[in-house]
Amino acid sequence: SSDKLRHVESMSQLPSGAGKISGINAVVLGESLAAEENDLIFPSPEFSANALVSSPKQYQEMYERSIKDPSGFWSEIAETFYWKEKWNPSEVCSENLDVTKGPVQISWFKGGKTNICYNAVDRNIESGNGDKIAMYWEGNEPGQDAKLTYSELLEKVCQLSNYLKSVGVGKGDAVIIYLPMLLELPIAMLACARIGAVHSVKVVFAGFSADSLAQRIVDCKPKLVITCNAVKRGAKPILLKDIVDAALVESEKNGVSVGLCLTYENQSAMKREDTKWQAERDVWWQDVVTKFSTKCDVEWVDAEDPLFLLYTSGSTGKPKGVLHTSGGYMLYTATTFKYAFDYKPTDIYWCTADCGWITGHSYVTYGPLLNGATVLIFEGTPNYPDSGRCWDIVDKYNVSIFYTAPTLVRSLMRDGTEYVTCYSRKSLRVLGSVGEPINPSAWRWFYNIVGDSRCPISDTWWQTETGGFMITPLPGAWPQKPGSATFPFFGVQPVIVDEKGQEIEGECSGYLCIKKSWPGAFRTLYGDHERYETTYFKPFAGYYFTGDGCSRDKDGYHWLTGRVDDVINVSGHRIGTAEVESALVSHPQCAEAAVVGVEHEVKGQGIYAFVTLVDGVPYSAELRKSLIMTVRNQIGAFAAPDKIHWAPGLPKTRSGKIMRRILRKIAARQLDELGDTSTLADPGVVEQLIALSDC
Ligand code: PRX
Repeated sequence: SSDKLRHVESMSQLPSGAGKISGINAVVLGESLAAEENDLIFPSPEFSANALVSSPKQYQEMYERSIKDPSGFWSEIAETFYWKEKWNPSEVCSENLDVTKGPVQISWFKGGKTNICYNAVDRNIESGNGDKIAMYWEGNEPGQDAKLTYSELLEKVCQLSNYLKSVGVGKGDAVIIYLPMLLELPIAMLACARIGAVHSVKVVFAGFSADSLAQRIVDCKPKLVITCNAVKRGAKPILLKDIVDAALVESEKNGVSVGLCLTYENQSAMKREDTKWQAERDVWWQDVVTKFSTKCDVEWVDAEDPLFLLYTSGSTGKPKGVLHTSGGYMLYTATTFKYAFDYKPTDIYWCTADCGWITGHSYVTYGPLLNGATVLIFEGTPNYPDSGRCWDIVDKYNVSIFYTAPTLVRSLMRDGTEYVTCYSRKSLRVLGSVGEPINPSAWRWFYNIVGDSRCPISDTWWQTETGGFMITPLPGAWPQKPGSATFPFFGVQPVIVDEKGQEIEGECSGYLCIKKSWPGAFRTLYGDHERYETTYFKPFAGYYFTGDGCSRDKDGYHWLTGRVDDVINVSGHRIGTAEVESALVSHPQCAEAAVVGVEHEVKGQGIYAFVTLVDGVPYSAELRKSLIMTVRNQIGAFAAPDKIHWAPGLPKTRSGKIMRRILRKIAARQLDELGDTSTLADPGVVEQLIALSDC
């Protein structure tokens, strides 16, 4: 794999539009992947015998069919859902991914009318599963819990839908949801979907982040914001309503005023008397929503009508509003969920992601409910009250499918196996991983310790933009290799291209692109179709460019190697370096900033910021803290730099471009690999930076 690394690092600049390449790291968290290529871990014969797809041959047949006849393949699946009006059979898929041939456009099931909420909730009741548990809820404190059957869920969704309609929210209107992992969060998403409103969920993090909420409000101009007064994370309360108040003031300044804030009283975190209140704007959920009828007609929407907007970081500028539509997304999340987790109706499924991320949209809310699954929603954190919490929950609910992120696996691994082994975990059947490449030692710990060497791991590679899994094991079909996401899902054609955009066959490394669309693909960036084309389709004409590097080994297994643009992946969360830099330079004492990713034992990557201060300002620990606070407040706690490196100057070319390659090496302390510094305007800068490394 070191040869592959060299091959990839020799790649020069991408064609227009892709931003800077940071070089692909084919070594994940310092672990070489070479040995893993030959290590096959087979599912047990019993597992395979009972699996939906039980052999490579069966996968191959299904995959080939999906590629040769995508319309037939996906139409058959679509038939299993309810459509008010059937799609036009000649327009199952219409697409142009080639910018040189005209505007990029993707549509699936044109002419069809459906509703994802109806299919995820009502349809399960109609098929006799009304009394099945749709959602278990486990609160922050052990012992706090709740549950909802599918029938109860429908009633709650309908009440909120009716309330939303009563305040004038209708088809196509945006609603911002800023809620923690309470049952009300998926309920709010489903209530919007039921009436054709477009939801945009903003993830809740410890930390203030009112600015990033305001940015979203200004971009999508919601009819109302749905939030709660406060939430407890571990031992700490977060005052969500205060954050919303500040965000609404900020958006008002930018010309967008929102006249209604529906607030859920989260009594376990804060009483309503203690909540700051603006009577002309704020309404308690418990006071109004419960008064509405528990029945609400469905708004039938076109397959291509927008379902939600989810903001994510890009390599430059403000966050991008990724837009997903209804019909294709519905089929895609349902089908990927079913096959990648080998879903059985008796499963109890737990995904640790927050609904505010795409993982929570596709694999907490929509994918599982569309399959009639029982889903666990967890409000708390995995190490509260101690590091055994996850396994305590697994035993309490008999969780059989557990889907999480490598960063969580690594942090629990660090805390010691005794927190795991004192719980039974015998209900577990399938494990899943998402968000970043899982390094082989974390994979093995997850497999051997958590799964007692009997549960296959679905290492699912995908993105906010892809809507659902793209490259993933089907647990009963393939032997696994620790750290490889294995093979493409049905209908997905991944290709690895070189810097010229030529597809490379066989064993190789390069840029990961996708040929042809798939039903779950995003359709545009909200309000900026040009940026959509420039970012994703211009770098390699004819393909969707993922922004990731990838190797394919001799057996055809895929190994994702990380971002190749200026996006850092911290604990599975995407953060654009440009976003952190612009937050830093907004600090009055910061003159310039350059941010790079650096390897981090638990988070995968950490944020390393080089900061040049305004002339005459001295370095101090306080200033460092205040710079970090600025980033926390503007973007969120997860974007806080792990290290601020004082920089009297930054390494720039004569044309003024910052050479991040050099900064990355300084951050990683790989000082003998700085490479050629002769093209710098002032090569002396590098020495200065090295001298300040430990200040
Ligand atoms: O770099 C890849 C990494 O996360 C990026 C997508 O981030 P986001 O849109 O926030 O979605 C995260 C949840 C889907 C990808 O471009 N990534 C995600 N899953 C994996 C991964 N890298 C390697 N292996 C994975 N399983």
